Amino acid sequence: MTRITIEVNGIKVGGNTHQSLLEQLEQAGIQPEYQCRNGMCGACRCQLQQGSVKQEDAMAFVRPGEILTCQSAPQTDVSIEFEYQPAAKAKVVNE
Ligand code: FES
Repeated sequence: MTRITIEVNGIKVGGNTHQSLLEQLEQAGIQPEYQCRNGMCGACRCQLQQGSVKQEDAMAFVRPGEILTCQSAPQTDVSIEFEYQPAAKAKVVNE
């Protein structure tokens, strides 16, 4: 399993390359908005500012540079930004 760092709205948490960003953020204590969790609604979208993700097929509309966190697994360290500050009780990753 490849360990990576996920930076979300300036908070860094540890992550991996096999789970969706939404699942990993939740496990780290961050609570992004979501509804369907299957790529239909777009509620979980955010800007991908750095890094790359593998995104499964999705129906929801996203603007250029945006990804769906419920359908995207990071492939490298990533930096993402939601338009709002998600509730967080995150553990900061040791660097
Ligand atoms: S939660 Fe609906 S598209 Fe991600």
